[in-house]
Amino acid sequence: MASPGSSAPGGVAVVGSGLIGRSWAMLFASAGFRVKLFDIEPRQVTDALVSLRKEMKMLELSGYLKGELGAEEQLSLISGCSDLREAVEGALHVQECVPENLELKRKLFAQLDKIADDHVILSSSSSCLLPSKLFAGLAHVKQCLVAHPVNPPYYVPLVELVPHPETAPATVDRTYALMRRVGQSPVRLLREIDGFALNRLQYAVIAEAWRLVEMASPSSRWPPAWHLGIVVQPLISGAEVKMAACFSSSLSCEQRVPPKVAARWGNSSGLKGSPFSGHRESGAPGPDLLRGGRCGVSG
Ligand code: NAI
Repeated sequence: MASPGSSAPGGVAVVGSGLIGRSWAMLFASAGFRVKLFDIEPRQVTDALVSLRKEMKMLELSGYLKGELGAEEQLSLISGCSDLREAVEGALHVQECVPENLELKRKLFAQLDKIADDHVILSSSSSCLLPSKLFAGLAHVKQCLVAHPVNPPYYVPLVELVPHPETAPATVDRTYALMRRVGQSPVRLLREIDGFALNRLQYAVIAEAWRLVEMASPSSRWPPAWHLGIVVQPLISGAEVKMAACFSSSLSCEQRVPPKVAARWGNSSGLKGSPFSGHRESGAPGPDLLRGGRCGVSG
């Protein structure tokens, strides 16, 4: 049984305490890591701590809190910090979560580069900024990579790891292990590629969904209909659409197909010949293609 803070020799620094930073903080704390939450706006940190308390207490009450520790113990692992250097001191991993702006992130990584020792991992949550642009010229480039989550990472485990051409393999290995330890399903890209894997799949799936809606007005008896539901419903409601990509691109997605959905395929596994089996009628790449495919993705 984990006890607060006992499971990690160092802690994790989360830089940027908005939507994604808060969710990462919860995840790391759920696995027993000490988390220092830093933001350029001190008020953001204060608000984050209040909202994390509310959310984690609620999750505990409803039985959905992750990890072996109680909400109060996990909350005791998360502290706010108003100084970047102090936040990073002693950390084994820094998860950057500031807005998706290349200049802003480059400036921040230049600051982190000066503070970092030779061991800490500098990881960006960037959705699509290429590591070669984000980390160009940094002295600690071997320790840098993108760990792009799906929103919100606490609830959707897929995270893609995208290296800079000079990222050390050990950096990717350590981040992969850390992600597994906090319950995520990391996918490694062997090299950077525009849009990474997640956005490319997401937009391909969404575009195809709209084409199908235009072409076929699918009914519930048509196999891809439920798949479309996953994709189109959030689009229509204006909610988070990355769920769609998660269902489509996660290498372990076969394990995540809800039994009810699988049953509609009418075979014992419920998956053979489905979009989740790797044999995809839509022609979109399945998990098996991704493993050894042209994008160079590995699980
Ligand atoms: P957000 O706008 O909710 O939070 C950003 C936070 O960064 C704010 O609290 C802001 O005060 C803070 N900040 C700004 N400049 C800073 C600096 N120099 N140092 C420290 N803190 C600073 O943004 P969000 O949505 O959390 O996104 C963060 C990153 O995560 C972005 O790169 C985004 O592309 C990525 N991401 C976002 C997803 C989403 O659906 N929101 C999904 C996956 C990744």
